[in-house]
Amino acid sequence: MYFIGIDLGTSAVKILLMDENGKRLNVLSRSYKVEFPHPAWSEQNPSDWYEQVMLGLKDLLNGFDASEVRGISFGGQMHGLVMLDSNDEVIRPAILWNDGRSSEETDYLNNVIGKDKLSEYCGNIAFPGFTAPKVLWVKDKEPENFAKIAKICLPKDYLAYRLSGVFATDVSDAAGTLYFDVKNRCWSKEMCEICSIKEEWLPKVFESYEKIGTILPSIATELGIPETTVIAAGAGDNAAAAIGMGVYGGGGCNISIGTSGTVFISMSDYGVDSNNALHSFCHADGGYHLMSCMLSAASCNKWWMEEIIKTSDFAAEQKNITKLGENRVFFLPYLMGERSDVNARACFIGMSMDNTREDLTQAVFEGVAFLLRDAFEAAKKLGVNVEVSSICGGGAKSPLWRKIIADVLNIKLLQTENDEGPALGGAMLASVAAGVYKDVGEAIKAIVKPVTETLPDAEDVAKYDERYKEFKQLYPALKGFFNR
Ligand code: XUL
Repeated sequence: MYFIGIDLGTSAVKILLMDENGKRLNVLSRSYKVEFPHPAWSEQNPSDWYEQVMLGLKDLLNGFDASEVRGISFGGQMHGLVMLDSNDEVIRPAILWNDGRSSEETDYLNNVIGKDKLSEYCGNIAFPGFTAPKVLWVKDKEPENFAKIAKICLPKDYLAYRLSGVFATDVSDAAGTLYFDVKNRCWSKEMCEICSIKEEWLPKVFESYEKIGTILPSIATELGIPETTVIAAGAGDNAAAAIGMGVYGGGGCNISIGTSGTVFISMSDYGVDSNNALHSFCHADGGYHLMSCMLSAASCNKWWMEEIIKTSDFAAEQKNITKLGENRVFFLPYLMGERSDVNARACFIGMSMDNTREDLTQAVFEGVAFLLRDAFEAAKKLGVNVEVSSICGGGAKSPLWRKIIADVLNIKLLQTENDEGPALGGAMLASVAAGVYKDVGEAIKAIVKPVTETLPDAEDVAKYDERYKEFKQLYPALKGFFNR
């Protein structure tokens, strides 16, 4: 029996084929464009996702017995707004999770409707990245498009709809819309009214591991897979990554260093961060989680390597970096602004004539690690002390970056045998929906195996504590300049 996990990322879709025991049989990725039509805007064409997924699925199954496929599911980039008209045509490009255009609408939600009300209705306050302010932006700025809406959904739900014909979402992804009642795992009537969203526009809500339907017969034929192939609801990419990394139930933690950088703390019970530093969302295991998200993480290093120093040999740039905790150069990783401040911008600070390009590369890694530390400090304020975390995403493949993160956070980091995070999590959710495992916990116990540990070093931890205190002063000092 085979299961397929589709990780619908920002720069590419990654697709994984596994057997029912979690053995990875094949994995590939296909990239697509992100358009930045204005500063702080970020858009993608949903039909590109579908086209690349179909091409990818054909390649993935090449050489395998496609009749063995039993289920497909997803981990999807969160918060993106996909709008369909009454003929199911895409109305305009999807507005993505890292798009900052809706700051006016965000201010309206936070200040006129009020953070207390938002928190009561949906467990979170507004950020421009979330879906609700984007809906309000379209209503205000593109009324002709707003008038055409017959359906709105999240990126992976568009894919599931194209593959199954069933208009569905899952609780973990829906939680990031800001019109979802996270505590009660259903759409929020109050928030829909505030955002002028008609409930008939919204997909039916499922738990992430539930079957929403089966593959459309025409697509089954095109791919050579059985018509009985189950499509499971799937999850937002961070919840799917957590499942793929074995993080479920109360108290587990996963860090993802992908285009975005996230800290994901899994919780058995619903809880809200009253300081609003951490999002409160549903988990794909039936529980909840707290999460913090920085908009640029591994993407900072990719930008630095490819756009600025023009190299593709990332490892070579890291091999001479040995003095951890002693770098005097700081990097603020705000290349796409920040979730709480769309005007924030990236900068290197503190350079002198003796600095080398290695110091700047190191500063990029450290800047991302320091922002992760902010999330850990926010969790500590809520009494959540993390000592061990799994880590995944492209950035986690660098032993140097992992070591810096372990030192800055003073925690043990674990990597797993199959570190395909969201794609593996998606395939595992499909295996639960198809009935191979009775629940997500059973699938994790059978499939996820931690292999590599990265431990903090006490001396580096002490040095980084001092550096972090300095780093903490930089954003407040520059905030006025960013927002001039
Ligand atoms: C989470 C978030 C990002 C995207 C990236 O809140 O916005 O992690 O899901 O794919």
